[in-house]
Amino acid sequence: MATVKEQLIGNLVREERLSQQKITIVGVGAVGMACAITLLMKGLADELALVDVLEDKLKGELMDLQHGSLFFTTSKIVAGKDFHVSANSKLIVVTAGARQQEGESRLSLVQRNVNVMKSIIPPLVHHSPDCKILIVSNPVDILTYVVWKLSGLPVTRVIGSGCNLDSARFRYLIGEKLGVHPSSCHGWIIGEHGDSSVPLWSGVNVAGVALRTLNPNLGTHSDKEQWKSVHQQVVESAYEIIRLKGYTSWAIGLSVTDLVGSILKNLRRVHSVSTMVKGLYGIKEEIFLSIPCILGQSGVSDVVKVTLNSEEEAFLKKSANGLWDIQKDLVF
Ligand SMILES: NC(=O)c1ccc[n+]([C@@H]2O[C@H](COP(=O)([O-])OP(=O)(O)OC[C@H]3O[C@@H](n4cnc5c(N)ncnc54)[C@H](O)[C@@H]3O)[C@@H](O)[C@H]2O)c1
Repeated sequence: MATVKEQLIGNLVREERLSQQKITIVGVGAVGMACAITLLMKGLADELALVDVLEDKLKGELMDLQHGSLFFTTSKIVAGKDFHVSANSKLIVVTAGARQQEGESRLSLVQRNVNVMKSIIPPLVHHSPDCKILIVSNPVDILTYVVWKLSGLPVTRVIGSGCNLDSARFRYLIGEKLGVHPSSCHGWIIGEHGDSSVPLWSGVNVAGVALRTLNPNLGTHSDKEQWKSVHQQVVESAYEIIRLKGYTSWAIGLSVTDLVGSILKNLRRVHSVSTMVKGLYGIKEEIFLSIPCILGQSGVSDVVKVTLNSEEEAFLKKSANGLWDIQKDLVF
């Protein structure tokens, strides 16, 4: 007796379903799942693979997402502890590893998460030798360097989510102060994702009107309007959210999806992401920091040469020195 499927569907062509735009997310914690749901809602992947070491959690998250398939245009969602589920990914988003506890800095996570990268990066690259890798796990700038070394991939294809989130927070807070939507408030944060990030006050503008032309003290200690506190809030926001809800997830998920869109659709939009900055701004070491980068199908194809004033350049160097102090002693 033929099955219902055999009676219903007349198969004309036996074809392998090969995914063109496969994305793998490694780590299905708070951040990984926020990335997953935002990527699915945007329909950026035709296949999504999830990898983690926690088998039950992985299976539960997989089933929960699959049951939403009616509402997505991603036709295949798979998951597994074994890295072969990630094979032939165009892009791998790495969110695996320890996260900050209340009051803990991102940098303190370094050795634990370097060990995680050592265990996951070689098999991921083995199964997807042509992939780009987007690192989200913290400390993101140092781990992007570590993943670049471990992967053997060209430097353009290993990208840290870096200050894309910090810049989004910055624009939201500027928007709140002005009563203007963040998409119309332009401003960039560069450097380390975290405590030593650098706000580029001279570039902050709405409709091309630089706020510094209206208030020359913008962002300085002598500013009566205290715009400097906007950057302070950006630096403190993750600590505050972790104190309140235990982790951050939604904004980083949306920010990662924004980056994934630029890469997979080859949009060549400019984002503040972590890339190798040796040779730029007097930095002599192999350090990854965020600067405005053009993102497309080959990863970071170009950087935008932002002219920094002496104070901004000094802050960026300080950020680089702080990271190098930790990076130079890493064993991996
Ligand atoms: N770059 C950013 O802007 C940003 C923002 C938020 C969080 N983060 C970072 O993202 C990371 C994840 O945060 P979270 O809140 O999702 O943490 P989480 O604890 O909720 O999830 C981490 C997941 O990683 C998995 N994992 C650990 N070791 C693994 C391994 N060897 N292989 C596969 N999976 C492994 C764990 O099982 C867990 O499911 C942290 O390092 C956090 O600091 C970065």
